[in-house]
Amino acid sequence: MTLNCAVVGAGPSGFYATAMLLAEGFAVDLYDVLPTPFGLVRAGVAPDHPNIKAVTRVFERTARHASFRFFGGVELGADVSRAELLERYHVVVYAIGAATDNRLGIPGEELLGSLPATEFVAWYNGHPHHAHRDFDLSAERAVVIGNGNVAIDVARMLVLHPDELRVTDAADYAIEALGSSNVREVVLLGRRGPAQAAFTNPELRELGELMRADVVVAAEEAALDPLSHGWLEQAGDATSRRNVALLADYAGRPPRGHEHRVVLRFLRSPLALLGDGRVEAVRVSVNRIEAGADGALRAVPTGVTEEIPCGLAIRSIGYRGVPVAGIPFDERRGLIRNDGGRVVDAGGRPQLGEYVVGWIKRGPSGVIGANKKDAAGTVAHLLADRDAGALGAPALPRPGDDWLARRGGRVVGWEGWRAIDAHETARGEPHGRPRVKLVSADELHEAANGVSAPNSLEPSRSC
Ligand SMILES: Cc1cc2nc3c(=O)[nH]c(=O)nc-3n(C[C@H](O)[C@H](O)[C@H](O)COP(=O)(O)OP(=O)(O)OC[C@H]3O[C@@H](n4cnc5c(N)ncnc54)[C@H](O)[C@@H]3O)c2cc1C
Ligand SMILES: NC(=O)c1ccc[n+]([C@@H]2O[C@H](COP(=O)([O-])OP(=O)(O)OC[C@H]3O[C@@H](n4cnc5c(N)ncnc54)[C@H](OP(=O)(O)O)[C@@H]3O)[C@@H](O)[C@H]2O)c1
Repeated sequence: MTLNCAVVGAGPSGFYATAMLLAEGFAVDLYDVLPTPFGLVRAGVAPDHPNIKAVTRVFERTARHASFRFFGGVELGADVSRAELLERYHVVVYAIGAATDNRLGIPGEELLGSLPATEFVAWYNGHPHHAHRDFDLSAERAVVIGNGNVAIDVARMLVLHPDELRVTDAADYAIEALGSSNVREVVLLGRRGPAQAAFTNPELRELGELMRADVVVAAEEAALDPLSHGWLEQAGDATSRRNVALLADYAGRPPRGHEHRVVLRFLRSPLALLGDGRVEAVRVSVNRIEAGADGALRAVPTGVTEEIPCGLAIRSIGYRGVPVAGIPFDERRGLIRNDGGRVVDAGGRPQLGEYVVGWIKRGPSGVIGANKKDAAGTVAHLLADRDAGALGAPALPRPGDDWLARRGGRVVGWEGWRAIDAHETARGEPHGRPRVKLVSADELHEAANGVSAPNSLEPSRSC
């Protein structure tokens, strides 16, 4: 007997899980709130990194399987409930990623000009929920808080040359706004030191090779404190060693005389965003590194503070999962409660037939490929449960193609996505761009044409 599975979330983790389940003989229906698949590969990965997006070809092969269907434009928790899926499928796998941001919890976070990287990234990538936001890029200095790869992406996007931007799949409005922005200096703030930066080497190296921006690091901030030095010698990983060496190299580099600069600052934590109505400066604590009781090296305030004038403060301190009604959620960690991918309740009891993969399972870290191993772990548990006869039978049969359309949804199937894809790539081709993205729900549904019933869901609830 074929077992029916709903996978919710068409990002990398959802697609990796789908491929594994199809290979095991399941029939898989893949749902996404957006009419378009691929999650952060489409709406997160930096537009100037087109090669990374080639992974979608693997996902496209998965979608050709006869037992695969796509239901785009369907939001779990709004258009369809957990209970409705559990009634119709033997297995439901949540792969909904981490759509919101962590908060700093400091004064001034709500000022105009203070925004999370989650929104800025979604904006420049044309995510329909964030398209047409109006970010004021008139300030000369932007501060990006955080020392991860997302912070580097954001910094780079702010200083790319318009010629570099023009050939990307960034949303047209973002190419226009970034190309004419006043930002000349981007300050990246790390609360700890160079040895603790979460950058990966190629991303940090790329900062030193930008067409129109110098990378600047003060020698005293690139130098390691004794504890970090000792840690790097004895236990440091290759990535951290190379990061430290790259930063030392940057500190010794004479500026190339570019008009734009990316300045990497270390041992600086934001204490407050200052300004009258909008951000005018970031007050930072100057930190030193100390070993905690567990031996981990952490930042401790020295009592000295500084102010960095800026008109834009982008908080890039990690993504965070969003709870969905009825699904057990760990508020502290911002993810669905689970034990190795089996959804569990607050008492640790497994929820029959419910599984989780990707960022909403383990938290918002790891590159695209990491989600494959992660999905394999969950699928192994799922198969063990199947083999033990622990999966119940759903009350209703696998739904028909139009089960949500009949209820008034604007649902995009895989053929609809292929029509969107063809439309976008055809628009990009004459300009040497991989695609020109459609960025509004209506445009996307129009391009998917014929596969959706029009005008039914509230735009705020779904695309
Ligand atoms: C800005 C940024 C840049 C990155 N760049 C790179 C890179 O260059 N290289 C690299 O290897 N990795 C990169 N990563 C990491 C990579 O994107 C992640 O590892 C990966 O996308 C996580 O996969 P996921 O499936 O868990 O989540 P996601 O990719 O976020 O997919 C989740 C999907 O679920 C959908 N969804 C959410 N809520 C609902 C709901 N309620 N109902 C229905 N659907 C829902 C979303 O629309 C989305 O399609 C980047 C991450 C970020 C944030
Ligand atoms: N090109 C790529 O391959 C690429 C591009 C983008 C993203 N990604 C991946 O996507 C994942 C997420 O990236 P990310 O950059 O969002 O997260 P991340 O790598 O976890 O980095 C988060 C950063 O925020 C800092 N931070 C957290 N809380 C803070 C606070 N209260 N105040 C100041 N700083 C704070 C962290 O510092 P501490 O270390 O001190 O906590 C860390 O430097 C990562 O695995 C990343 O590699 C990959």
